[in-house]
Amino acid sequence: MNILVTGGAGFIGSHLCDMLLEEGHRVVCVDDLSLGRLENIAHHTGNPLFSFIELNILKTDQLNTVFKEHGFEHVFHMAANSDIQQGASDLNIDLEKTFMTTFSILQCMKNNAVKNIVFASSSAVYGENTAPLTEDTGPLFPISFYGAAKLASEAYISAACENVGIRAWIFRFPNVVGERATHGAMFDFIKKLQQNPHKLEILGDGTQTKPYLYVKDLVDGIMFGWKNAHDALNYFNLGVDSATDVTTIAEIVVEEMGLADVEFIYTGGDRGWVGDVPKFQYSLRKINALGWTARRTSDEAVRCAVQAELGKAR
Ligand SMILES: NC(=O)c1ccc[n+]([C@@H]2O[C@H](COP(=O)([O-])OP(=O)(O)OC[C@H]3O[C@@H](n4cnc5c(N)ncnc54)[C@H](O)[C@@H]3O)[C@@H](O)[C@H]2O)c1
Repeated sequence: MNILVTGGAGFIGSHLCDMLLEEGHRVVCVDDLSLGRLENIAHHTGNPLFSFIELNILKTDQLNTVFKEHGFEHVFHMAANSDIQQGASDLNIDLEKTFMTTFSILQCMKNNAVKNIVFASSSAVYGENTAPLTEDTGPLFPISFYGAAKLASEAYISAACENVGIRAWIFRFPNVVGERATHGAMFDFIKKLQQNPHKLEILGDGTQTKPYLYVKDLVDGIMFGWKNAHDALNYFNLGVDSATDVTTIAEIVVEEMGLADVEFIYTGGDRGWVGDVPKFQYSLRKINALGWTARRTSDEAVRCAVQAELGKAR
């Protein structure tokens, strides 16, 4: 297949490029490097099946030319803002990076009769809805601009299925961790402990609890759903059945850094920041019924990611 990966120089997108290339697909990675890094895809330099184009996909005319030149069959749309907190201080960030990128992609797909899109959505679309969160839970009221922009993207993709005749695979990701990640509690903790190995400030009360999915498991789940779901509009929660609280993440980081007697200082409150959903777990019954489950538990995913990060830092 001839595949476009947007945001392919980012954390998840680069792992997706790895997997698609491993399976023998031709991959064009488009990224403006606003959040991604060339080093994430440097190992594909010289691979005749891979090319990289540095482009802001909001430049729809230029993106259209890329579509015309490459004749894509599938688009994996991963490009977005990945810093949810930042989106709260500047309302343009998620409008442009998270929603308008989707709009631009859909325009180019329509113009060039590209019929298939795989979309990176997020558990953030559920807002503070409480369990059991199935894919059909509603109404959906996100509490971050990021979640709102993902939900709006899902809505436009759904409308494009009906009006433009495309097929879509929408995957709602939980917190994803692993090599090449750039955000999250564990990075914050590692950074703080490298500066002061005796004290660790933890945002909130430490009981915030979420499922953490290892990036290679996530990519495996995306590929599985893409190959095995055949509706016009396919939509799945992807994740793990277990979850990890923030204090446990701190304990894993402390242990993996070989530290002891670290004093945890909590800033208090039930959440880390405005727009953060302190506790969630969604139903995985739909993707499980299709035949996929994650290999690693949430705690294992966190530990793998911490070890990877420390391995890099050493
Ligand atoms: N990491 C997570 O825990 C998580 C959870 C849920 C959903 N997601 C979604 O998964 C996708 C990948 O996230 P990630 O964690 O790899 O983030 P990331 O920031 O590492 O990757 C996003 C990539 O998109 C690129 N990009 C952004 N705007 C662009 C534009 N206008 N034109 C071209 N490229 C642009 C960035 O440079 C970056 O390389 C995103 O859609 C994100 O919303 C991630």
